[in-house]
Amino acid sequence: MCGIVGAVAQRDVSPVLLEGLKRLEYRGYDSAGLAVMSHDKELQRLRVQGKVNELFKEHQKSPLNGTTGIAHTRWATHGKPNVKNAHPHICHDKVALVHNGIIENHEELRKEQMASGFEFNSETDTEVVVNAIYEALESRLDLLHAVFNTTKKLQGAYALGVINNTDPGRLIAVKKGSPLVIGVGIGEYFIASDVFALLPVTQKFIFLEDGDIADITRDKLTIYDSELSIVERSIKLTELNADMADKAGYRHYMLKEIFSQPNAIEKSLEHRIKDGKIITSEFGQNADSIFSRVKSVKIAACGTSYHAGLIAAYWMEEIAHISCHVEIASEYRYRKSVVIDDTLFVSISQSGETADTLAALHLAKESNFLSTLAICNVAESSLTRDSELVFLTHAGPEIGVASTKAFTTQLVALFLMVIAIAKHNGLSKEYEKMMIKQVKSLSGRVSQLLHHKDEIEIMAKDFADKHHALFLGRGSFLPVAMEGALKLKEISYIHAEAYAAGELKHGPLALVDDDMPIVAVAPNNNLLEKLKSNLQEVKARGGKLYLFADKESDVESTEGVYIINLNVDYDFMAPILHTIPLQLLAYYVAVIKGADIDQPRNLAKSVTVE
Ligand code: M6R
Repeated sequence: MCGIVGAVAQRDVSPVLLEGLKRLEYRGYDSAGLAVMSHDKELQRLRVQGKVNELFKEHQKSPLNGTTGIAHTRWATHGKPNVKNAHPHICHDKVALVHNGIIENHEELRKEQMASGFEFNSETDTEVVVNAIYEALESRLDLLHAVFNTTKKLQGAYALGVINNTDPGRLIAVKKGSPLVIGVGIGEYFIASDVFALLPVTQKFIFLEDGDIADITRDKLTIYDSELSIVERSIKLTELNADMADKAGYRHYMLKEIFSQPNAIEKSLEHRIKDGKIITSEFGQNADSIFSRVKSVKIAACGTSYHAGLIAAYWMEEIAHISCHVEIASEYRYRKSVVIDDTLFVSISQSGETADTLAALHLAKESNFLSTLAICNVAESSLTRDSELVFLTHAGPEIGVASTKAFTTQLVALFLMVIAIAKHNGLSKEYEKMMIKQVKSLSGRVSQLLHHKDEIEIMAKDFADKHHALFLGRGSFLPVAMEGALKLKEISYIHAEAYAAGELKHGPLALVDDDMPIVAVAPNNNLLEKLKSNLQEVKARGGKLYLFADKESDVESTEGVYIINLNVDYDFMAPILHTIPLQLLAYYVAVIKGADIDQPRNLAKSVTVE
């Protein structure tokens, strides 16, 4: 995680760096800092503990002016979130560096450097890098070669931005395993962890590849590969614009993103369906021929994206009759597994930069999979670049750390994928048409559900003073319950667990008392009667139930049972529909608790470290 920004320009770069950091804050917000080369070639630095706003305040009091600079917002891995661990790190007032990623062999390097006389000012894994560069500069290497030689000593993942005072107008940027883009301006260049940071200053970007080193001055950019040979990397024009990052009058990004789901779903379907049929080439040129050979599917993802995968597995087996296994990417990457012939590997990620998901994909590429497909929200991400097939979710930038519209659009994408594969496994044209009709009705139905917001806001009051909550679901609604529990714990800090309702009596029922709210997802399907029996078990033990029911679920509010009738008809879209009220519940509980909804403690939006 962590966000980095850098700039070499004719203008004063501090405002660009600060605005860039603000836009990167979703990547970490424990501490922030910037270093700017002064006009008389001195490295000036400001660092604060806490959010970028604190840095803005400090900068107002003591502004840094200069035309070359680097900046950082931190998500602490090594060392506490305090000022001395905040980046940029500086060695002997000569060289300054910002780093995103983890240096795995930092302890070994630290010992070597201490033995040769270096004193350390922080507990970070980063300081060894700036020291090594300083050492190389002292041995008369120029900045490019000093950085290059240093990278040869590093193990792990990193994106770096480095400046020094013997070359005051020069910035060296390195990418290995952590994201880094170059923004191309007119007579100026920028670097950042993502395009979003630089949208106020440019629409033109170069996406560095792993191992690339960029040597940047105001009027010249040279990119080298990991062998230090000059390489060409194309400039791409982004369709994103700076305004996409505003809250559009909503109190939080999360609320804006919940309410933008009808639109995001429509965008995800746009140009993907014609005459009631899926356009399979939207997954990639060879998708049709690959899908025709699929005998099984393996999905790997993390967090909310993993929950989307779990729901897709139910669809895959029920609609396409193809076996589907879903794995937590961080587990899958380290496990010895067997790949059945003709298995399609599917990775799901909002950001496309999640380290564990990327590692799972890289492992899959070395294994015997039929092909790799990425379902992703970021077009130019590592995941999309490294996968053979790609389906973009087109949800638009998601800023709130708690994932909402990314999840529902991932489900739309996965549903289309299931149908596209099922067509090769006996799915009839009529059935395909019927399912397309369902997915096309989704956006309107989600809009209707959002009208329940006031009811849910009232219900949320019952949760605000609780320490624990249970979420229950059955079948494809178990992952929906898991997603509801994740949302609640993530932004309101209430401990929440999800259980398959049938598992209650095998242990968790012991927890049930009148202080443990129990949320149940109760769609009107073949498991409804079974779910109702499970709920009786809870009621009999004094547990307070909160039920989200369908049109004909036939459940009524009674003492200790609070029902919200969502008034929806049951079909394949039901898991997506039932997710919406759970997002709203988590949101309103967090509002009542006064939590930092868009930037919950200890978390970051894009988890680019292991
Ligand atoms: O960008 P990704 O979809 O790969 O991110 C995966 C998880 O880190 C993410 O879904 C996380 O669980 C969310 N904060 C949940 O709301």
